[in-house]
Amino acid sequence: MIVLGIESTAHTFGVGIVDEKGNILADERIQYRPQEGGIRPRESAQMMSERGAFVISSALKSAGLTMDDIDAVAFAIGPGLGPCLRTGAIAARFLALRYSKPLVGVNHCIAHIEIGKLSCGFDDPLVVYLSGANTQIIAYAGGRYRIFGETLDIGLGNLLDSWGRVVGIPFPAGPKIEELARRGSRFIPLPYTVKGSDLAFSGLYTAAVRAVEKYPVEDVAFSLQEVAFSMVAEVAERALAHTEKKELLLVGGVAANKRLQEIMHAVAEQHGARFAVVPMKYAADNGVMIAWTGLLMYKHGCTTDPAEPINPKFRTDAADVCWL
Ligand code: ATP
Ligand code: FE2
Repeated sequence: MIVLGIESTAHTFGVGIVDEKGNILADERIQYRPQEGGIRPRESAQMMSERGAFVISSALKSAGLTMDDIDAVAFAIGPGLGPCLRTGAIAARFLALRYSKPLVGVNHCIAHIEIGKLSCGFDDPLVVYLSGANTQIIAYAGGRYRIFGETLDIGLGNLLDSWGRVVGIPFPAGPKIEELARRGSRFIPLPYTVKGSDLAFSGLYTAAVRAVEKYPVEDVAFSLQEVAFSMVAEVAERALAHTEKKELLLVGGVAANKRLQEIMHAVAEQHGARFAVVPMKYAADNGVMIAWTGLLMYKHGCTTDPAEPINPKFRTDAADVCWL
């Protein structure tokens, strides 16, 4: 069984091809980069519609396959930016109808989890999913991926990118902030907001913006990371104690951060859980994770009607998990 998957939720148009054993036969991506500021959804979608077909044919070519070899076409049906999701969905529906292939609509967040599980050899982890737009602590329980804690306002990556923009670091700011933080030493108290099992970052953002007027930017970067990562650690630790999962998996673009990895590793150790970070090449958005999750779904009989609309607000816990 071979599945082709299309990712197009925000800035990346990615096409992955995988087989049933989890071999990755193709992984092609292009990325939209805003001239300045944040993503403009229509601009990103425009780029995808101009160059998407080329990415699809490159993926088939690099796998040495044609559409005849493909058993199903998967795409990210949500969550994400409407114009971008729609562009990927149109491409996937076209391929499915033109070549008479089943279509599979995949939840993007769950795809981040499934590619993490595949590449780290985990079965049933507590997942800490930290990206630009998303911040969620997730575990499989009672037939679904349940959210045990999440941000009430902005994602952790957005916090870093927004603060970065203010202090003159271009998008994506995470790696540069990590580097600055390593040179910081003095801890500046900043708002720590955990409400039950949920997090909020906007107060922290505002305080960190103000703090650069008074303190060296390295110290603010250091303190910003320490506070934000501690908040995540508290919520993750509570979920780990509650669910008694024996694996802790870190996924999403922010997972690249070494200090964060160190903190999460310590949390896992204290609870006797194994710890892993998704390999960097699959941390950011990609088509492979959509293809792999699509394959799991298709294998278990879950397909999507081509008439089904995209779902920009598709929640992790709203997805039917037919394959576990
Ligand atoms: P999603 O659609 O799943 O929310 P996304 O496109 O918003 O994904 P990703 O591509 O998963 O996000 O991750 C991008 C984010 O990761 C950016 O906010 C970026 O600043 C952050 N990031 C990347 N490297 C690091 C790092 N070393 N430390 C902290 N943050 C990082
Ligand atoms: Fe993503």
